Parts: sequence; C-alpha cells; structure tokens
Amino acid sequence: MSVRNPVIAGNWKMHMTCSEAKAYMSSFLPLIANTPSDRHIVIAPPFTAISTLAQSIEGTEVELSSQNVHWEDQGAFTAETSPKMLLEHSVKYAIVGHSEPRKYFSESDEQINRRARSAQSNGLIPIVCVGETNEQRERGEAERVIRRQVEQGLEGLDPDKIIVAYEPIWAIGTGKTCESAEANRICALIRNWVGSENLIIQYGGSVKAQNIDELMSMSDIDGVLVGGASLEANSFARIVNFEKS
Ligand code: PGA
Repeated sequence: MSVRNPVIAGNWKMHMTCSEAKAYMSSFLPLIANTPSDRHIVIAPPFTAISTLAQSIEGTEVELSSQNVHWEDQGAFTAETSPKMLLEHSVKYAIVGHSEPRKYFSESDEQINRRARSAQSNGLIPIVCVGETNEQRERGEAERVIRRQVEQGLEGLDPDKIIVAYEPIWAIGTGKTCESAEANRICALIRNWVGSENLIIQYGGSVKAQNIDELMSMSDIDGVLVGGASLEANSFARIVNFEKS
C-alpha cells in the first residue's frame, strides 16, 4: 500500500507584505516545532514575498508554493512568472487552476494543463484546483464538471508527482464547508478517475481549526488547501497540528 503523507498548504492569496510575512513566520515557526515529521507544511505567499520567505524558512520543515506559474521559461508574457524563476527561490509547488484566476481571468482547462505540465517537467509539484459552482451543484452537474476539469487539467501529467485540490467554489471564503462525507466522496471519485492510489488529494473551502480534525480523518482526503484561516499563525498552526482520530 502506498503512503500518502498529509500536505497542509496555506494559500495567502493577495495578502502579506514582506514585513508582515516575516512577522508571521516568527510567530508560526515555534508553533510547529513538534509537528509530526511526515506532514508537509506548505505556504503559498504572493510572488513579492517569496524571496523573503525563502530566507525565513531555511533549515525549517516549511516548504514554499507559488500561486501560479507560466508554461514558458521566459518571454513577452507580462505579469507572468516562469518555473525557472521560482526554482531559484527554492519553491517546490505551484498552485494552478485556482477558481479565482479561473473566474476573474477566464483561465481555461487547456491553459491550466499547460501550466501544470510545465511545472511538473521543471520539477515543481503542481497543485491543480478543481471544483463546481453552487449553480452547477444544484443542477446536478458537479461530478461532470469536476471530471472534465480533472481529465483536461491533468492530461499528460504523472499522477504520482501532482496534487489535486478539490475546492467547491461555493465553500471558498464563505464559511460554508462542504460536509466531510461529501468532500470525501468527491475525492474518492477523483482518485478513481485519475486511476492512481498514490495521488494526493486535498480538500479546500473554509477549512479552519474547528473542522480540520474531521476532514483529515476521511479516507480520501490527504491534505487541505487553506485560504483565510492560514493568514493567522495560531490558526494555521492548529490546522497543521491536526489531531488524528
Ligand atoms: P478559504 O479559501 O479557506 O478562505 O475558503 C480556500 C482557497 O481558496 O484555497
């Protein structure tokens, strides 16, 4: 049987200046001194704070993710960042296909796939986000939508070097967490569609200190992608230090 170690990632979105990031790390690091070593602790800061954080996490267990990545190494792509630029700062993961760029910048599954492929071929682990809107769920289309996002987003990728984050859009930033049994059911479907027992699947959407233990007790949820609750060191540390049932 394969071992899927937990991956707990904080997505800071467009929050934290460099000085705020430094102050956060000085509160956060002592709180994870006794975290079990099989857990991956990942922070995805805005691009401007990556270099600062790369220095603060040196010699610690914390790993870095970017919030996006481009498919080319360099070129005329204003506002984009290449894998090569991230690797220079010891970044290990790259979030792609988050529902916010999908919604605000009309990111397509094809673009997301190109980003993920480029990340993977450069040695970054793509965190590919998928998830349905409230309307799609109410119309009974959730599974079809997620399956399309998974199949197109992961095309040509090695499932053993990737993370899929199931983030129902109606649960993001709303305080409405998807019921853990339902989140687990969708994560199991994703594992089945991808066809890999080793695939690491995260749940995301209003994860907080109060629901982390239950979510992490589910058979097909291997980690979480946390937005709002990762912005405060104490609350993210409690999430990272979830209790096993
Ligand atoms: P949230 O965000 O935890 O604030 O709901 C999750 C995400 O967008 O990844």
